Amino acid sequence: MVKLPNGEEYPKFGIGTWHLGDRQENHQQEKEVIQYALQHGVTLIDTAEMYGNGNSEKLVGDAIQGFDRESFKLVSKVLPQNASKQRMRQSLNASLERLQTNYLDLYLLHWLGQVPLQETIEVFEELKAEGKIKAWGISNFDLEEVASLRNKADGDQNQINQVLYHLGSRGIEVALKPYMDSIGIPVMAYCPMGQGGNLNSGLQHNDTIQAIAKKHQVSEMQVILSFILHQQNTIAIPRTGNLEHMKENIAAQDIKLTSEELDRLDQAFPAPTKRVPLDIE
Ligand SMILES: NC(=O)c1ccc[n+]([C@@H]2O[C@H](COP(=O)([O-])OP(=O)(O)OC[C@H]3O[C@@H](n4cnc5c(N)ncnc54)[C@H](OP(=O)(O)O)[C@@H]3O)[C@@H](O)[C@H]2O)c1
Repeated sequence: MVKLPNGEEYPKFGIGTWHLGDRQENHQQEKEVIQYALQHGVTLIDTAEMYGNGNSEKLVGDAIQGFDRESFKLVSKVLPQNASKQRMRQSLNASLERLQTNYLDLYLLHWLGQVPLQETIEVFEELKAEGKIKAWGISNFDLEEVASLRNKADGDQNQINQVLYHLGSRGIEVALKPYMDSIGIPVMAYCPMGQGGNLNSGLQHNDTIQAIAKKHQVSEMQVILSFILHQQNTIAIPRTGNLEHMKENIAAQDIKLTSEELDRLDQAFPAPTKRVPLDIE
């Protein structure tokens, strides 16, 4: 489990939903994959108003019907241009309607835009007081932005930073993650299977990954995911619309990599030695 600053415990594993809901002909299959996850111990779903212009939230809303709302956590994101006094409430209401629920566990600012952060924080806090969101956080914030948020009134209410992080893209380990660790803000790692970002070359058909996968009798993708699941204060949100892949991803939580295997992965895919720009998908 990962502890948020407000004391809430979040699972280290959740599911992403970007591109799920894009195609009507895949709706039933994707819905069943999400439902399979909820029936097999997954308690965290990530989505956003941006994904498929709301179609991902609609799919999630359809999939969660019949499940006890208190038994899982729902995260969605507001687009930066909607994160204002004038527009955020309307965005949230539309998200809640698509999701067929009356609250979000976490509402994230998708990335930093033009609306002053203080204004966004004030609306987040109002929505929290009204019970429409339990907590709020940020996404795609680099170190200086996280630090500057912290200096704003109620900036310490931020609970999480969702950023790109996978074995082939470890730039956050240089400065951002150590800083976040020092102030107790967890990472929610997006693209944890390496399906995004600029720094992911070489993950496919790599000898080290293949050897470790063979030893554990798992797939290479499961090893890639397992690397992120082994990181402290980090939650992974892999996405799949494929039932067999969902089974593999859920099972990846049980893979125990030895410190020697983690060292080999570290050597094969080292974190950069100097700060690099935050990788973004
Ligand atoms: N905050 C942000 O700006 C931001 C940006 C990007 C993503 N996200 C969030 O993070 C989530 C995860 O990121 P992502 O979807 O970009 O990338 P990802 O989870 O790293 O990779 C998803 C891809 O991996 C494939 N895959 C999944 N499990 C697999 C398995 N066991 N074996 C083989 N292939 C597998 C999927 O295809 P199949 O469907 O065929 O399995 C899909 O093509 C998103 O869905 C979204 O919720 C947030």
